[in-house]
Amino acid sequence: MNMETTTLAPQDFDGEAIVVGIWSDGALPPSTAAIDEASGGMISRLIELQEISTSRWDLTPLLAPVGVQAPLVLVVGLGSPEDPPAGLAKRAAGAAAKHLASKARKSVGFYLDLEPVAEAVAGALIGCVGQDLFRHEPKLIPFESISWHGADEAAIQEGKALGESINLARRLVNLPAGDIYPESFADECVRLGNEYGFQVEVWDETRLAEEKCGAHLAVGQGSSRPPRTVIMRHLKGDAGAAPLGLVGKGVTFDSGGLSLKPSESMLDMKCDMSGAAAVVGAMTAISRMDLPVNVIGLVGLAENMVSGDSYKLGDVLTARNGKTIEVHNTDAEGRLVLADTLDVAVGCGVDRIVDLATLTGACMIALGQGVAGLMSNDTAFCDEVQQAADRVGEPSWPLPMFAEYEEHIKSQVADIKNVGDGRWGGAITAAKLLEEFVAGTPWVHIDIAGPSFLAKPKPWIDAGGSGCFVQTLVELVRPR
Ligand code: BES
Ligand code: MN
Ligand code: ZN
Repeated sequence: MNMETTTLAPQDFDGEAIVVGIWSDGALPPSTAAIDEASGGMISRLIELQEISTSRWDLTPLLAPVGVQAPLVLVVGLGSPEDPPAGLAKRAAGAAAKHLASKARKSVGFYLDLEPVAEAVAGALIGCVGQDLFRHEPKLIPFESISWHGADEAAIQEGKALGESINLARRLVNLPAGDIYPESFADECVRLGNEYGFQVEVWDETRLAEEKCGAHLAVGQGSSRPPRTVIMRHLKGDAGAAPLGLVGKGVTFDSGGLSLKPSESMLDMKCDMSGAAAVVGAMTAISRMDLPVNVIGLVGLAENMVSGDSYKLGDVLTARNGKTIEVHNTDAEGRLVLADTLDVAVGCGVDRIVDLATLTGACMIALGQGVAGLMSNDTAFCDEVQQAADRVGEPSWPLPMFAEYEEHIKSQVADIKNVGDGRWGGAITAAKLLEEFVAGTPWVHIDIAGPSFLAKPKPWIDAGGSGCFVQTLVELVRPR
């Protein structure tokens, strides 16, 4: 989509529609006030008559107001100006874009007057892209061009990098498992690395065997689509400084394996690579923004399937770090893939690790669908991650990692087993297994099983892959 900045006054913008905002206390942002004045007080009169809602994300289209060039003015309710929530600019722009993208439009002007502009730009890009990959008649049609009022070129470029990277993560999640499998996911990483300038190394099944990634390989062995690990490097910080590691669960389809999922639970399991998609999205954004930091992104890719070659209950796997794991449930596969991928990250010399995974239904039971669970071996680092998420409006909440949970993953025959005793505290027992593979490196695990895939649309984003935590990762690594 073409994006440019405009200095035209709102009433003079000659595209197909313009977007303005409105607060619930009646104070009009500058562009809204200009439209109001040009139209002889139309907006203030409609507010008085309560024909325009100022509630957050409510949209009121005004057709052909006198004195205004654009044939359509879309008024977005911004709610109360007191304590505006983080992410307001992104969501307001997203809600307007989603509404306007219901039909093809050449040019739309955004006159929201909200900060930060880059987030609003990203929000508009997110709002006008939906789950239309396979529809002959798309429900959302991105505009040919957007004009931004009061935006400098740098903010537009940053917003574009962010919004397109989030949309990239959403697209990877929305593509079905028939299209995105370990090999094709890895190919996509190579393509993106070439396009945006980060280094990409792919480990195929032979390399994974040489590297003794026994846990990861076991998960993939039931599929005709062999597993992969992808290592992406963006090393633009100080030469000596150890990189941050970003690790993503990339189970491109989770049937549950021999511990087969019931059909309803399996339907959305193309989303089980959302952690990997977030890492790829973040690497893309970080390298497009050319951030002066050292970051290594790793994704562990496998398809958890049923066949004569599937790994079995009771199998004992030897992970890359030498620890043995007894398999009690083949549906607890993500932690096995991550066990080896985390160890590869440690081997890359990272000094801190953030992993992202659609790891447990238990995390959704604990926190609901909208909130990610944070589990960590380092409280200060965990706070840092939570604060980055808070700043960009991505809800997250810490869960405890008390030592007593370690009892739950002790095995009779191996060092550990891949599930806890019973289902209690399932998000935490999963994290406790992961902790065995980070070798004491400061580490935060983000369980995104809830927020990664939206069952229903929100006002500012279509249903399906949400692209969650791409923005948090960028926020975490960017120098402030
Ligand atoms: N990928 C699932 C977790 C999941 C569930 C993600 C729902 C998104 C939505 C994971 O591999 C899984 O199956 N976890 C099991 C673990 C159990 C077998 C210990 C679960 O949560 O039921
Ligand atoms: Mn599973
Ligand atoms: Zn899974």
